Amino acid sequence: MHIPLQAYEASIFEKISSRAQHLGMEAWVIGGFVRDKILQRPTKDADIVCTGDGIALAHAVADLFKPRPHVSFFKNFGTAHIRIADFDIEFVGARKESYNRDSRKPAVEPGTIEDDQLRRDFTINALAISLNAKDYGTLVDPFGGIQHLQEKCIITPQDPIQTFSDDPLRMMRAIRFASQLQFTIHETTLAAIKTDAHRISIVSKERIVDELNKIILSSKPSVGFKLLYDTGLLKLIFPQMVALAGAQYLDGHGHKDNFYHTLQVLDNISENTRDLWLRWAAILHDIGKPATKRFEEGHGWTFHGHEVVGGRMVPKIFAQLKLPLNEKMKYVKLLVELHLRPISLTKENITDSAIRRLLFDAGEHFDDLMTLCEADITSKNKQKVKRYLSNFEMVRQRCVEVEENDRIRNWQPPIDGETIMQYFGIGPSREVGIIKNAIKDAILDGIIPNTLEAATALMLEQAQQLNLTPVR
Ligand code: CTP
Repeated sequence: MHIPLQAYEASIFEKISSRAQHLGMEAWVIGGFVRDKILQRPTKDADIVCTGDGIALAHAVADLFKPRPHVSFFKNFGTAHIRIADFDIEFVGARKESYNRDSRKPAVEPGTIEDDQLRRDFTINALAISLNAKDYGTLVDPFGGIQHLQEKCIITPQDPIQTFSDDPLRMMRAIRFASQLQFTIHETTLAAIKTDAHRISIVSKERIVDELNKIILSSKPSVGFKLLYDTGLLKLIFPQMVALAGAQYLDGHGHKDNFYHTLQVLDNISENTRDLWLRWAAILHDIGKPATKRFEEGHGWTFHGHEVVGGRMVPKIFAQLKLPLNEKMKYVKLLVELHLRPISLTKENITDSAIRRLLFDAGEHFDDLMTLCEADITSKNKQKVKRYLSNFEMVRQRCVEVEENDRIRNWQPPIDGETIMQYFGIGPSREVGIIKNAIKDAILDGIIPNTLEAATALMLEQAQQLNLTPVR
């Protein structure tokens, strides 16, 4: 099989080959690089496996480049890394490996190339290309990796229970590859994930969320989430999402299954954005529904306030999953809180002040909010979808008009909290918030003009009611 390489890749591999030969070692390119080349996916790193000491080979290869690249290595694991231009190369000695059942600490001993391939996660990730003079460029495929690539099948090279016991994160990797590559997980491998799902508990949250984010960034993330759900992994890593599942019927009233609805929204939004955090907003937009679900006699199921409750859940879920608690989290929280607002503006006789409020609250994220709302339309009725979309188009249009006049999106009221504190000689307090909001609300509602003069007059009026007197 001919595997087309970039000129710089071919040249680096030839250098590795010559150094390995010089040191009396054998070497292969292995793993994701080979898989992705065959699938014609972009590659940015390569793993080299050799007989003997991978760190020594990395140093010898580094010697051939000017300037000499830095070699970083972990003596305990016998791995070394160099970077040439933007290409990352990892070196490791071929090994037989068995893991302690209750940790990720491997017990390693030197092995053959086949031992090394056998201990890898999936046959499609165990393919190797020889860098040895006797068969340079030959594909080494003892476990049927090529056939499985052609069949689009994810299967472990050995008994899956063994493979997953060596590193339970591989259960999530199987699902991630299925979602990313649109492959199917072989039934025995899938059955082992169901059996061993509970062992995900020994894997760090950081590694888990890394895989979860890769699933979310795949072109059709519902594929991965359905597998996570069906195997029982989702319940263990993200129970709040599983709580969305199920449709209940009472007195002839039903509600939709919010888990599958959420997946549909996630797939919809993924057609329009590659932004991880906007996709997270889609995942979490209805997360407050289970907690707010009520049955109202004669009316049916309601989820009043689910956007508020959902917004409050966002920081907790981010902390639990070890997602960043920075402005990305605040962005997702804001979109969850606001996701019903544009719908409420599709009714007739909407005032400019309601539009101004939405523009102010969504600020720079207004377009992302509209993208989320459009993705939230999951009706199967084409007429309805058309009507909802044209309603949102009207909201967008109104927003454009109001924004042109009032420039609200990146607007800040003419008086801020700092000014109020200085004016009355007070520190941060409830009063400051009351005055600040009164000014903001009055301007957004068109009660006073957007000027410093009008804002100052209102501040003084409010302050009087709060028994505050100016210090100057
Ligand atoms: N590997 C494994 N078990 C793991 C992680 C990795 O057996 N838990 C092996 C696989 O052979 C894999 C290789 O190590 O191909 C490199 O791992 P990594 O760089 O994490 O993944 P890639 O397969 O290269 O895929 P991607 O770059 O998309 O993460």
